[in-house]
Amino acid sequence: MSKNTYYITTPIYYPSNKLHIGNSYTTVAADALARFKRLTGFDVRFLTGTDEHGQKIQRSAADAGKEPQVFVDEIVAWIKDLWSALDISYDDFIRTTEPRHKQAVEQIFNRLYQQGDIYKGRYEGWYCTPCESFWTARQVEDGNCPDCGRPVEKVAEEGYFFRMSKYAPRLLEHINANPDFIQPVSRKNEMINNFLKPGLEDLCVSRTTFDWGIPVSFDKKHVVYVWLDALSNYISALGYGSGDESLLHKYWPADVHLIGKDIVRFHTIYWPIFLMALGLPLPRQVFGHGWLILKEGKMSKSKGNVVDPMVLIQRYGSDSVRYFLLREIPFGTDGVFSNESMLQRINTDLANDLGNLLSRTVTMVERFFGGIIPAPAVKGNAYPSDRELRETALSTPSKMVKLMDNLQLSGALEVLWALIRRSNKYIDENTPWALAKKEEEKERLGTVLYNLCESLRFISVLLLPFMPRTPERIWSQLGIRSMGNLHVWKSLQEWGQLKPGIKAQRMDDLFPRLDLEQELKYLLERENDKAVKEGKKERDTVEEKEEKKVDLISIDDFARVDIRVAEILSAEPVPKTDKLLKLILNIGEEERQVVAGIALHYSSEELIGKKVLFVSNLKPVKLRGLLSEGMILAATSPEGKVVLTAVDADIAPGSKIS
Ligand code: MSP
Repeated sequence: MSKNTYYITTPIYYPSNKLHIGNSYTTVAADALARFKRLTGFDVRFLTGTDEHGQKIQRSAADAGKEPQVFVDEIVAWIKDLWSALDISYDDFIRTTEPRHKQAVEQIFNRLYQQGDIYKGRYEGWYCTPCESFWTARQVEDGNCPDCGRPVEKVAEEGYFFRMSKYAPRLLEHINANPDFIQPVSRKNEMINNFLKPGLEDLCVSRTTFDWGIPVSFDKKHVVYVWLDALSNYISALGYGSGDESLLHKYWPADVHLIGKDIVRFHTIYWPIFLMALGLPLPRQVFGHGWLILKEGKMSKSKGNVVDPMVLIQRYGSDSVRYFLLREIPFGTDGVFSNESMLQRINTDLANDLGNLLSRTVTMVERFFGGIIPAPAVKGNAYPSDRELRETALSTPSKMVKLMDNLQLSGALEVLWALIRRSNKYIDENTPWALAKKEEEKERLGTVLYNLCESLRFISVLLLPFMPRTPERIWSQLGIRSMGNLHVWKSLQEWGQLKPGIKAQRMDDLFPRLDLEQELKYLLERENDKAVKEGKKERDTVEEKEEKKVDLISIDDFARVDIRVAEILSAEPVPKTDKLLKLILNIGEEERQVVAGIALHYSSEELIGKKVLFVSNLKPVKLRGLLSEGMILAATSPEGKVVLTAVDADIAPGSKIS
């Protein structure tokens, strides 16, 4: 019998800050997948939750002058409100401060200790508190975390260690034998080349310098390392070690852990190894999606440039926000969030394509048939446009299934929109308003309008996972709101399930067209209000804010930067990284070594001999232990493509740019 369960998880969020639109992205994507699987007949379990222990939370609570538990309770309540505003249909919400989770972690730690996978030692090295991550001196770059770039702290403390290296060969074997285990493939290669191949070091899995965590039961001055604690949520929520493991038997292994690309290492190295040590099967897939970034770069609370999802939901409705997130960014790559692109998508895809299709159709049913959905001609099918519309509608569900199975959410929406656009084209091809002028075309007119209503019914069912509120509104206008049998996946197997004779009724537009200028102004004002409320700055007017976007410098400022033409003499990859290249440059009187983050965009061979622009008077820094004396200039496209800058005629290395 084929497996009919589907277990999908999101990361559990740190309740140290309120979540921004970037965090909402993972959860909206997981929700769309969960709803899609439910719609297509799976027994789904969708888990999300909060990761409440650790030094970072303890510090945030102290900064807010609150007890950690009180502090997290407040933010968790806010997170649950956000998920409810975004219609997140989770089946379980796990908090790592709950007794069911703590007892599971206690058992996991004890078992690993008893079987000799955990041993006591002493940790001396570096720790990045924002990432809750240990680093060796070799990995730390100029005192900063190699993952997030923020300063690391020196720690020296007694600790329990997990024997990672013991399981590394088995993990590598598993990864190679299961090509879908880590997706997308680029993340898989990064894990193999940067972490597994160079050899895993044992991982410190306890801390003693703070106490906001789950105590090690046999050595109470230690608390369990927050990542071992957090990752266990995926099984503690299924009742691991509780005496009732029926959910664990039913749903484990997970079908997919959906996570952001920044936490792939924890999910594809540490987590599978912990599971191997516990004798449990590994999740079928870990999918590390890209990030939602702003034009100015990464969204972060410290930069104060986060986009508040609540503001967007309140103004445009959760379905519009969900649609934008799911449609705009091909799952897996980074995508740029901007108010402009969101508003444009709402106007073109939602108001024009979908909204107009419904309003035109129902208006014509009212005008030409008194609101009663007409019957199609008995013979039917003689018209190529009818056949094409019907075939497009009937083939859309299976195309979407394939794309969703590959987590191509944006692609699935694209296919659905092809049906919407095909339906609009069908109106233009058949010009119902012209047919209505001739009595002898009445039957043809009835067929055309029937087909449009039936196509809208297909569209409404297929929209359910992505925009859960909109289908009901379509059904109300088509008069089929109470007819549950027309809302299910099975009803899409055959064309013509909609019964003629039903009363349709024109109601409000699904998505009223937005005035772009007015909305941009509104959103800018809200961002401003928020910053003022959080005490970040004095209030700016919209105009001032616009001006500030252009940060002007004087000619003297510019003159301080020494830019030269440089010729690349050699280029080689920096070991244990996949982004960095070590370049030797000829800059006229001397040669310079620089470390550049362009390995994903250029091969070493194609760089040699190229002339590029080079900033020669930057303070030297050490990157991955290599001295980098200056910086080559490159342009980055909004999609993240990096292209080197060049001079447009042959010119000697060392020439100055001014
Ligand atoms: N608590 C850990 C996860 C533990 S899972 C066992 C954590 N929490 S987090 O709150 O910092 O991040 C939660 C998720 O949000 C991560 O998957 C992260 O990648 C994602 N995102 C954070 N900022 C993001 C964007 N700007 N865009 C897309 N996703 C982003 O990590």
